[in-house]
Amino acid sequence: MNRRHFFQSLGVAASSFALPAWATQTGLTQAGTSNKFAPLFQANPKLTCLRGYRGQDVSCDKAWVEGKIPADLRGDFFRNGPGLFERGGQRYHHWFDGDGMVHAWRFSDQGVSHQARFVQTKKFAAEQQAGEFLVPAFGTAIEPKIPLRSSDTMNTANTNVIKMDGRLLALWEGGSAHGMDATSLQTQGMVSWSPELAGMPFSAHPKVEADGTMWNFGTMLDKVVMYQFSPQGKLVKHHVMKCPRSAMVHDFVVSQKHLIFIFSPIALNMDLLHSGRSMVNSMEWKGNESSKVLIVEKADFTKSRILEIPALMLFHFGNAWEENNVIRLDFVKSEDLRNFNTWMPKIMRGEDVTSEPSTPAFLTIDLNRNKISMTERSDTLEFPRVDPRVVGQRNQFLYYPVAVNKADNNTLNGVMRLDLESGKTDGFDFGDRCRLEEHVLVPKAGSRKEGEAWLVGVGFDIEKQTSFASVFDAQNLSAGPVALAHLPYWVPHCFHGNFYSHA
Ligand SMILES: [Fe+2]
Repeated sequence: MNRRHFFQSLGVAASSFALPAWATQTGLTQAGTSNKFAPLFQANPKLTCLRGYRGQDVSCDKAWVEGKIPADLRGDFFRNGPGLFERGGQRYHHWFDGDGMVHAWRFSDQGVSHQARFVQTKKFAAEQQAGEFLVPAFGTAIEPKIPLRSSDTMNTANTNVIKMDGRLLALWEGGSAHGMDATSLQTQGMVSWSPELAGMPFSAHPKVEADGTMWNFGTMLDKVVMYQFSPQGKLVKHHVMKCPRSAMVHDFVVSQKHLIFIFSPIALNMDLLHSGRSMVNSMEWKGNESSKVLIVEKADFTKSRILEIPALMLFHFGNAWEENNVIRLDFVKSEDLRNFNTWMPKIMRGEDVTSEPSTPAFLTIDLNRNKISMTERSDTLEFPRVDPRVVGQRNQFLYYPVAVNKADNNTLNGVMRLDLESGKTDGFDFGDRCRLEEHVLVPKAGSRKEGEAWLVGVGFDIEKQTSFASVFDAQNLSAGPVALAHLPYWVPHCFHGNFYSHA
């Protein structure tokens, strides 16, 4: 199925082939939609990193390093996240709405430098010039002031950044990846894997195995497209199939033989959309329905099965692996949509609210009996990562930013390693002064074993109102960071990123 067939199968006219169906069906191309904005950000020192920038790029040649950067930690730590939330006196309601800003923390013999640039999407460039928002956002209803020709008209390129075939790709799950120069962070424009795949959704959570094989997917309404890429970055195959339910799917996971997706029971209320609400505010939680688990064979995307588990909400998986036709996987679970549609708008206004806990959950999927069992832990955390050498293979460890002091609004202020075999944890608490982002594993030079790695991430120092990169020995988190590289400024809080070591 090519791009035209994909969008035709969604019932979208060929002339607007890449326009998200929710936009088409709601008449957002017409005037008269709701345009109510939240109050602008209230000064809250804990949430400064969600205030956003005005569109400016920043750089620092030499961060102040506390401790010592390991001699073998040399490379570029690229991150991406929403960086701009306000224009013309209007502020987005949702963290997910902001324009993508790609960061490069570069670890060299000279120290640690930082550089960040906004992705020059067509949306960003047009709105920067106009001085106002021109298109609707995922969580904010805005009357369009330019034609919505495709989902890429609203592409913010704000969710993840990977390096593929020598260039960076800034990713956003609703549309095309944006190519960027890895040295200058200059935007090169949207990329497509073949002419017929231009504009197809490409999620921000591709999974890269140790040999470089990459898997990804994209969803739009009731269709999911799956991709396999070679270690050289060439498209090997793709396939489009009907989803078990129409829903938001942010992440997936791969085992040795399968791609696994969980479809939460979320319905899009078209009446609410028609009334001018944002997509986020038109989603309804169907807690009496099941979540669907879609399991697709890597070797043949046309072979799949669907199983059911109780209603649950999730954004992120850690890893999956299988043995004797039994898949084991982990993810971070929420009860419902409240964090997404209730607490997030308040947080984006700068309010101190306590979000619902998101906690680790583990599935065992017996493919012989088509049975699934689930176990859970009570830690409050998010953004799980594993050692890149075990993606899709048996893993012993998971690493998370964690809310050490749950009384403090479930703020992620520590890091944690979970040993899946013993159940033991190791961790470090930054105290109330920090908000942490995702932390990633960087294998130590010459190491072979899972977990023999540096754990590298970014945090925001609430007291100093500055951002820092943190480096831990992943085998001894409780010893505290071996190094902190402090910037003289704060940067917007990012979603995801990846570290690429100098060979
Ligand atoms: Fe994500």
